[in-house]
Amino acid sequence: MSGLPAGGRRPAVRRRVNPDILRLAVLASGRGSNLAAILEACGRPGFPVRVVVVVSDRERAPALERARQAGAEAVFHDPKAYGDRAAYDAALVATLDRHRPGLVCLAGFMRVLTPTFVRAWAGRLMNIHPSLLPAFPGLHAQRQALEYGVRIAGVTVHFVDEGVDTGPIIVQASVPVLPDDSEDSLSARILGEEHRLYPEAIRLFAEGRLVITGRRVLVKERA
Ligand code: GRF
Repeated sequence: MSGLPAGGRRPAVRRRVNPDILRLAVLASGRGSNLAAILEACGRPGFPVRVVVVVSDRERAPALERARQAGAEAVFHDPKAYGDRAAYDAALVATLDRHRPGLVCLAGFMRVLTPTFVRAWAGRLMNIHPSLLPAFPGLHAQRQALEYGVRIAGVTVHFVDEGVDTGPIIVQASVPVLPDDSEDSLSARILGEEHRLYPEAIRLFAEGRLVITGRRVLVKERA
């Protein structure tokens, strides 16, 4: 006996989908330590988020390996395979659409996204930046902070708009700059806060507690 019903076809297995779980896509170019922190948070009881796909523009990005190890789909989109940024971003949108994420997080994704991409995901696209924005946007934020001589540095999680690191701020955390700090030691201190703050911002989004009003993001109390 095969155990199959008459006609030999197995009944379609319906995957249980929990509508309360936020489907998350992460775009990452590098080592993926923020992705790792997010994946770890997703494993905690009651954390209402699941990483459904990780996309990278670098084939050997450790972030892709971390995704595979966690059982999330890992996709490499080679920039050389596309004629221009618009074509690349169209491919990104197609990949994301296939996975139906409710939120897309940039975690060290080293490409500037086109306005078309940003508009498609407006209000559902987050980034983490290693400074207290609006100070020190762009590359080498930690080095900029040291060179400027600030005594307090930090991290910002924000929604993405069409500028570079200019979107509405969701959460921030500060760290001290110590007299003998190097770029590496300051970056490590900030990174510790990044790993705490990014999952926290994602959880607030998943719980429907973030309301964008102009440049400000209101965080609603838990219902
Ligand atoms: C982090 O410092 C993040 O703030 C910045 O890029 C870095 C990515 O690090 N946007 P990782 O790949 O998450 O370890």
